[in-house]
Amino acid sequence: MCGIVGYVGREEALPLILGGLERLEYRGYDSAGVALIEKGKLIVDKKVGKIRELVKSLWGKPYKAKIGIGHTRWATHGAPSEENAHPHTDEKGEFAVVHNGIIENYLTLREELKKEGVSFRSNTDTEVIAHLIAKNYNGDLLEAVLKTVRKLEGAFAFAVITVHEPERIVGVKQGSPLVVGIGKGENFLASDIPAILPYTRNVITLSDGEIADITPEGVNIYDFEGNPVAKEIMIVPWDIISAEKGGFKHFMLKEIYEQPKAVGDTIRGLVSEGDLPFSLKDFRRILMIACGTSYHAGLVGKFWIEKYAGVPTEVVYASEFRYADFPVSDEDLVVGISQSGETIDTKFALNFAKERGAKTLALVNVVGSSIDRESDYSLYTHAGPEIGVAATKTFTAQLTALLFLAVKGSEREEEALRSIMKIPSKLEKTLELSEDLENLALKYMKKKDFLYLGRYLSYPIALEGALKLKEISYIHAEGYPAGEMKHGPIALIDENMPVVVIAPKDRVYEKTLSNIEEVKTRKGIVLTVGYTGDERLKKISDEFIAVPEVEEDLSPFVTVVPLQLLAYHIASKLGLDVDQPRNLAKTVTVE
Ligand code: M6R
Repeated sequence: MCGIVGYVGREEALPLILGGLERLEYRGYDSAGVALIEKGKLIVDKKVGKIRELVKSLWGKPYKAKIGIGHTRWATHGAPSEENAHPHTDEKGEFAVVHNGIIENYLTLREELKKEGVSFRSNTDTEVIAHLIAKNYNGDLLEAVLKTVRKLEGAFAFAVITVHEPERIVGVKQGSPLVVGIGKGENFLASDIPAILPYTRNVITLSDGEIADITPEGVNIYDFEGNPVAKEIMIVPWDIISAEKGGFKHFMLKEIYEQPKAVGDTIRGLVSEGDLPFSLKDFRRILMIACGTSYHAGLVGKFWIEKYAGVPTEVVYASEFRYADFPVSDEDLVVGISQSGETIDTKFALNFAKERGAKTLALVNVVGSSIDRESDYSLYTHAGPEIGVAATKTFTAQLTALLFLAVKGSEREEEALRSIMKIPSKLEKTLELSEDLENLALKYMKKKDFLYLGRYLSYPIALEGALKLKEISYIHAEGYPAGEMKHGPIALIDENMPVVVIAPKDRVYEKTLSNIEEVKTRKGIVLTVGYTGDERLKKISDEFIAVPEVEEDLSPFVTVVPLQLLAYHIASKLGLDVDQPRNLAKTVTVE
């Protein structure tokens, strides 16, 4: 998964493209590059590493081009290197292409082109696109692209420019995201809306199988047959301010602190959107499909849906779903949970379920994303843009939406909604713990392994706490159901092992306390998250993190926050790149 930006207009393209790439860096940061057209020539500059390396290399170069494309890469085919960095060009250096996604048949195409005498400079799948477009070019870039896309297989988006038509960008969407930004005398292309938000809020989201033909004066959209497609222009409600750090050291910390607002906005949004066009009870089964943090939200949601709607619910990793012989039918509601709405595993799994007759519900943060558009129904988390790679505010917003979904239409709807309304103020209180967690981070940041334990609603929170720690601090961490520990993982415990136990006063509280005793007996270091005033828990803990007491259903909201803060402070104290941890990308658009 990579980020694409394109600009054509009257301004200098380079700073606009670099700014856009910086806002897309969450999609990958192995290498970056730009292609500009100036005085009839194609200029290509690319560097391994983050955008700042590219910026350094461009520093002082007097480019004034009014058209260009840029790319930030998360390597799939071909190691991160300058040769493999985008843009890729044809042999004569007349066409430049930036690409996101995978061309699945690129090896066949590469062999065919090689037989025709084309020589390749990189190991990427992208380079075939540049050579094919050059080969198919007959004076009209759109026509050359139309001929080329018919040969490509896979999920991809790309943008191309040519010296022959120095005021035109053609962009293609097939499986990977691509949006068009509409300006005055200038137009944009990007993988995601935040890239172009400082310049325009008027956006067209392309659907699969569409091509955008962009000049300074206009935008035309076509299908792969070359037929014009009428599209609506959407006015993006986000403010760019909310996509900036606002005084916090990292986006992740800012986003942790935004949780009371994210949850409050989500409640208000869902309530104002009114009744759902279906009832959970209409279905034989609910299947929730998601990845990473969204999967953990699904695991919590399962307990709520079974409790309030009484419908059997399963939660499946999207990447596993499509390749198992999962019986899905028109009696199922399949819920795709995804912050970005672009995660390819989730998107493909939902399409697979839809083809088998299931109804699909998108639970997404990004309105207009692929998963949103392709599902039968949508529910939105109103968390605003999340820039940090580690999901935080979108997780608690997802929990809010799942609880809303579970209680909607049930006998206890009103009472439950009143409880949900209390979450933002409880979260505010929980955030006061940040300093305590900073101190704990200092004490435990050198540990090599952590165990996270919880039962019932706290088990998914243990998984989420462990995921947060490993993804940003690179410390090995495992989440486990506390009762399962005695079946194996207890062998890991010794005096060096910090064990974080989530122990709210719920139906499994006594059982969890017994599990803590098992850890203590093996000399493990016990860090607990429990309710303020729980002296019993405090007494058996080496470290006690006190969160405000809430009703049983709401405990995941308050127990996850200290785990996010602990992971954040450890990674920050270790001097790591909290917002862009190694090997990761915010949106995973490859299988
Ligand atoms: O955009 P999505 O919610 O579909 O993303 C799913 C995962 O890639 C995501 O939650 C990932 O695990 C995060 N880095 C977790 O912090």
